[in-house]
Amino acid sequence: MKKTSRVIKINHSENIFYHDATVTCNRRNQANNHKSVVIWFTGLSGSGKSTLAHAIEEELFSKGCKTFVLDGDNIRHGLSSDLGFNDTDRKENIRRIGEISKLMMEAGIITITAFISPFKQDRNTVREIIPHGDFIEIYCRASLSACELRDVKGLYKRARAGEIKNYTGLDSPYEVPENPELTIDTDREKLEESVSKIVRFLRSRIIVF
Ligand code: ADX
Repeated sequence: MKKTSRVIKINHSENIFYHDATVTCNRRNQANNHKSVVIWFTGLSGSGKSTLAHAIEEELFSKGCKTFVLDGDNIRHGLSSDLGFNDTDRKENIRRIGEISKLMMEAGIITITAFISPFKQDRNTVREIIPHGDFIEIYCRASLSACELRDVKGLYKRARAGEIKNYTGLDSPYEVPENPELTIDTDREKLEESVSKIVRFLRSRIIVF
């Protein structure tokens, strides 16, 4: 039977209407045989977010899951190329990624994000727009000195030399998550251990089988 879509007028935008999909997120999840969620990595630059995001994507993709990684450096080449690193721009960056993650999740994809996302309030704003339980915050815990020692992109060195302003952990704050779903000690744990830990968590929540 054909289901007619509902059209709802939402109150905060004049003359904008919201259409309900007939192919719902639930139907997509059933077809995919896994739940779609947002796995949100947060941590200092160089704390291993991207490495972990791609490693977990490999693991889930090889099991047949629909996955996609949204990565800070890549997004800043396109969608957020107009933004810098002051507090307002970082907030807007995370707002955009939050909205995109939500759409991708509704499309049935396990969406994995790797952004410093230094501000608690901005991360919580994203948490609030995602259905309860479907936002999985993973804190990549690594000391500033470990990140700075690695300095894969040479940016800490440039920031210390005064060539880059507002560098997270130096002259711009990083607010540690209070209640993340998981914390990964990226400067102590092996990558495979961290990936297994995350997969175990996803299984325990019946997100993947
Ligand atoms: S966020 O704060 O808005 O979440 P995002 O994750 O998109 O940051 O981008 C972080 C990446 O941009 C870092 O990994 C680093 O390579 C680069 N970068 C350039 N300038 C800065 C800066 N001032 N602070 C932090 N990262 C920076």
